[in-house]
Amino acid sequence: MAAMAFVARARKTAILLLFLVLHDGCVGARPLDVAEALAKAKDVSVGKVGSNVKSFNVLDYGAKDDGKKDSSINFIRTFKAACNFHGDAMMVIPKGDFLIGPVIFSGPCFNPSSLIIQANGMVKAQSDIKYYTGGADATDWITFQSLKNGLILSGDGTFHGQGAHTWKYNDCAHKSKCVRLPASMKFIKVNDTIISGIKTVDPKGFHIFISVSQNVKLFNLNVQAPGNSPNTDGIHISKSSKIEISDSVIATGDDCVSLIHGTNEISIKNVTCGPGHGFSIGSLGHYDDEADVSKISVINSTLKGTTNGARIKTYKTDSPSKASDITFKDLIMDRVANPIIIDQEYGNRASTQESRVSISDIHFENIKGTSESKIAVKLICSKLNPCRGVQVKNVNLQYVGRPNDPRPFSSNCTNAKVTYSGIQRPPPCTPGS
Ligand SMILES: *[C@@H]1O[C@H](CO)[C@@H](O)[C@H](O)[C@H]1NC(C)=O
Ligand SMILES: *[C@@H]1O[C@H](CO)[C@@H](O)[C@H](O)[C@H]1NC(C)=O
Ligand SMILES: *[C@@H]1O[C@H](CO)[C@@H](O)[C@H](O)[C@H]1NC(C)=O
Ligand SMILES: *[C@@H]1O[C@H](CO)[C@@H](O)[C@H](O)[C@H]1NC(C)=O
Repeated sequence: MAAMAFVARARKTAILLLFLVLHDGCVGARPLDVAEALAKAKDVSVGKVGSNVKSFNVLDYGAKDDGKKDSSINFIRTFKAACNFHGDAMMVIPKGDFLIGPVIFSGPCFNPSSLIIQANGMVKAQSDIKYYTGGADATDWITFQSLKNGLILSGDGTFHGQGAHTWKYNDCAHKSKCVRLPASMKFIKVNDTIISGIKTVDPKGFHIFISVSQNVKLFNLNVQAPGNSPNTDGIHISKSSKIEISDSVIATGDDCVSLIHGTNEISIKNVTCGPGHGFSIGSLGHYDDEADVSKISVINSTLKGTTNGARIKTYKTDSPSKASDITFKDLIMDRVANPIIIDQEYGNRASTQESRVSISDIHFENIKGTSESKIAVKLICSKLNPCRGVQVKNVNLQYVGRPNDPRPFSSNCTNAKVTYSGIQRPPPCTPGS
């Protein structure tokens, strides 16, 4: 049925499609610029793709849209058919309710251009944790992997992780080596990818986890989970580069975006975060042999009622690495507990060990709004590796925490070389401190 509707629409817009076909012919798997990506994602969400693109609808492969029957196998068969097609292909998840357990959508695919997934339905995860048996890194909910010709995932569909019943199994508050619960969507070895429009709700673990991937654009995303849901990071990224996150709303129980080891050239723009733990670089120094982190920017974004705003955190371990060229700029803090924070004592403040992550070339610029804590700027660096090249420019924050806290509104710099310019509220650290 959906395929017929698609055909009818295709006829109506024949001229436009002709243009798109010609246009598509030269797109291939090359990285798209922002405007192209936006246009492409929009077209995909309404099924406006070239007539050369063959549709593979999950309903045609036996999926049930009653939200009750497990359609995992049908989703996998649909994906395989699309991925093995020697032409351009689009997997269609139409409006309707679907229930699936853990699935892996794995390439390599035979499509000459990016594989398209149009996601307009409500896809729910099996809620029972027993379905996810693969252990620490083996079983997430929906895994996309080894798609080297790229992926376009777009639509106004929802991926509901049904995590609420499983959050009690999260033991990371008491254990440092805890098993993470399944991420709702994991992208691994996925290059040249667009993820747009979709909503993710109540994952068991992370909402979106990206690893070993390059050139991924995520925009117009709606990421939702309660503020007290454990370790439900919005977008968690490791070992990846050239990732852009923009025009999205993230409300969750942990970091809105967390960038850990091996992340480079990451741009975050126009994202509203809260509730949540803010934008975090780290935790770094968690594993042995961590790759460096560099060229990160978080700009034009708003934090609402989060525990942290702009944060860099490292563990006190002897795992060495570098975090450099990091910019937090044009940010609005709305009742944020720690608006600006570098914390190299994360996890175990009492330990006598010092962090071996060296932090340099860090910019906090044009940051305004309100702070829930008296020490609104905390730059707590490692004695072994003092932070170098930290620039704080135009910070205009106002204290809105408990009215009877007698401490002055202030900054704390420990083992940090900081240069200041422009407005400074709270006042800067006194030189030499
Ligand atoms: C992704 O791109 C990088 C850099 O071009 C390349 O080294 C890597 O092999 C690619 N990954 C895949 C899955 O094609
Ligand atoms: C910022 O993102 C929101 C969606 O969260 C969007 O509505 C708005 O147009 C974006 N602003 C700009 C300047 O792009
Ligand atoms: C930041 O947002 C404002 C409006 O919200 C927009 O005018 C400006 O271009 C944005 N800056 C960047 C660098 O995107
Ligand atoms: C500043 O931070 C350091 C490191 O955590 C701490 O030892 C010190 O007490 C703090 N100073 C103030 C005034 O809070």
